[in-house]
Amino acid sequence: MQRQQDGGSHDILLTGSNGFLGSQFVTPWLQRHPASRAACLVRAADDPAADARLKAALLRAGADRNATTGLDEAIGRARAICGDVGDPAAAWLDDVRRWREGGDGRPLRVLHCAANLSFRPGDRDAVRAVNIDGTRFMLDAASRLGATEFNYVSTAYVAGDREGEILEDVVGGQPPGFSNAYEESKWEAEALVRGHGARTGMPFRILRPSIIIGHSVTYRLSALSGFYKVVETMLALGRMPRTRGRVILLPMPSGSTLDLIPVDTVVAEMMALMDAGPSTLGHAFHLTSDTPLPLVGVLDALSPLAGLTIGQTEEGPVDKLAELVMQRLRHYAPYLGQIRRFDRRNVRAAGIAPQPLFDVEALRPYVTSFIGHAA
Ligand SMILES: NC(=O)c1ccc[n+]([C@@H]2O[C@H](COP(=O)([O-])OP(=O)(O)OC[C@H]3O[C@@H](n4cnc5c(N)ncnc54)[C@H](OP(=O)(O)O)[C@@H]3O)[C@@H](O)[C@H]2O)c1
Repeated sequence: MQRQQDGGSHDILLTGSNGFLGSQFVTPWLQRHPASRAACLVRAADDPAADARLKAALLRAGADRNATTGLDEAIGRARAICGDVGDPAAAWLDDVRRWREGGDGRPLRVLHCAANLSFRPGDRDAVRAVNIDGTRFMLDAASRLGATEFNYVSTAYVAGDREGEILEDVVGGQPPGFSNAYEESKWEAEALVRGHGARTGMPFRILRPSIIIGHSVTYRLSALSGFYKVVETMLALGRMPRTRGRVILLPMPSGSTLDLIPVDTVVAEMMALMDAGPSTLGHAFHLTSDTPLPLVGVLDALSPLAGLTIGQTEEGPVDKLAELVMQRLRHYAPYLGQIRRFDRRNVRAAGIAPQPLFDVEALRPYVTSFIGHAA
């Protein structure tokens, strides 16, 4: 991975830093930039409560990756700012300004990671409020604070229902459709980031992970992200007497793949891209797997771990049991049967090293570790 090229110390304003991805980013970033400081916007009743939430999340994230040295020192350079990305009153902007006064005029970078990740149709308004209005507000805040760059954590699934090769730079405008309001909101938020950049000159990067799983060394994770919700649902199905001893044939096009990426790989690629200098500004990057997994192989190998036997059919749902399974997994179905591949040309051009091979066997310990903890 490339080392820091930003020429020295900076302040960074982060959102979502007590969440799954953000909490794994903050202290490695501060350890990589030993003279820098972070302000982390955290929702809470007051500053002490925000501070407690942040510290707890950073310690949990450190434990999830077996962090041994430097964690407390890095946490000491992370300051919690109590606030909400959708807060139009923006009292927290003044708190950030006051914090900046102690920074000797060093540049301010922004990483906007906060989002509402719900796929439930009933959460549409809340998803749009956080993901679209919140991003608009963060862009405005970045400009008002004189930030030098805006890094936006999006998702590879802004591709919506596009299939085939998905390029990082947007070609052909908006996809014909989206699987849910979350994808659509992230697409619209990306458009806001680009529009703001064009209008104000604010440099930006768009960072698009696929489906994030636990840490590649410990397999642990501190939040139940999308992939694990699928495993959890399969565990619940595997406990139902009617699934016992039955082969459940699910309709899946052959060639479907599953794009999973360990959280520490996402963080390492984010850090390298953010430190790769001006050539990475103005671009989007797929933080996706170099080796997407064949879905049929994953289900073959891993569904027995949940007490299920799942097979593939090219036909529609063949019986009531398959219908039940599909109903339970309906929110995740768009991510399970992908006939697409995320291109990583921009990632390569930035000099990011190829990832180690990630095959079905490499996935197995993530699932067994999760099931062990869930039991
Ligand atoms: N997890 C994945 O597989 C995945 C895949 C692709 C992209 N992403 C993207 O990665 C980013 C982080 O996702 P994650 O998995 O870390 O999700 P997460 O664990 O749910 O974390 C979301 C974070 O956003 C914060 N947040 C939500 N609404 C907020 C608001 N109104 N004001 C301030 N903070 C708010 C949450 O704070 P609270 O604790 O207060 O709710 C939390 O810190 C998101 O942008 C997501 O779209 C995630």
